[in-house]
Amino acid sequence: MIGIGNDHTGYELKMEIIKYLEEKGIEYKDFGCEKLEASDYPLYAKAVGKAIQNKECDLGILICGTGIGISITANKMKGIRAALCHDCFSAEATRLHNNANILAMGARVVGPGLAVKIVDTFLNTEFSGYERHSRRIQMMEEE
Ligand code: RB5
Repeated sequence: MIGIGNDHTGYELKMEIIKYLEEKGIEYKDFGCEKLEASDYPLYAKAVGKAIQNKECDLGILICGTGIGISITANKMKGIRAALCHDCFSAEATRLHNNANILAMGARVVGPGLAVKIVDTFLNTEFSGYERHSRRIQMMEEE
């Protein structure tokens, strides 16, 4: 299950991504927001982050204007590794190396064509499982 969340700036891009998920038959849960009126991105970052923490969702997608505020918020949550990616190389690498569980993007940064490719890359790349990468991920959680 993929959790998806956005603020008002990300609404239209979210709808493009939902179209892709539906075409591919990928299950998702939409945590909002559902409109173009100004909304506060931390609400949606926290909703998707919580759904991953409690295992309701396996991976998440977060969208705000830049992807920055929404990823910073998500990364304050225990066990959340949100990667801000605007290219496919980074989306692949962050799954392989960081086992990122959230992909964040900026709707004011990428167009829908590239964004959907980035989502496709992120969702279709598994964590490498290499010991060195697991060790480094473990170290992220330490004080
Ligand atoms: C909203 O104007 C904008 O600040 C937000 O979408 C995001 O880019 C914050 O990081």
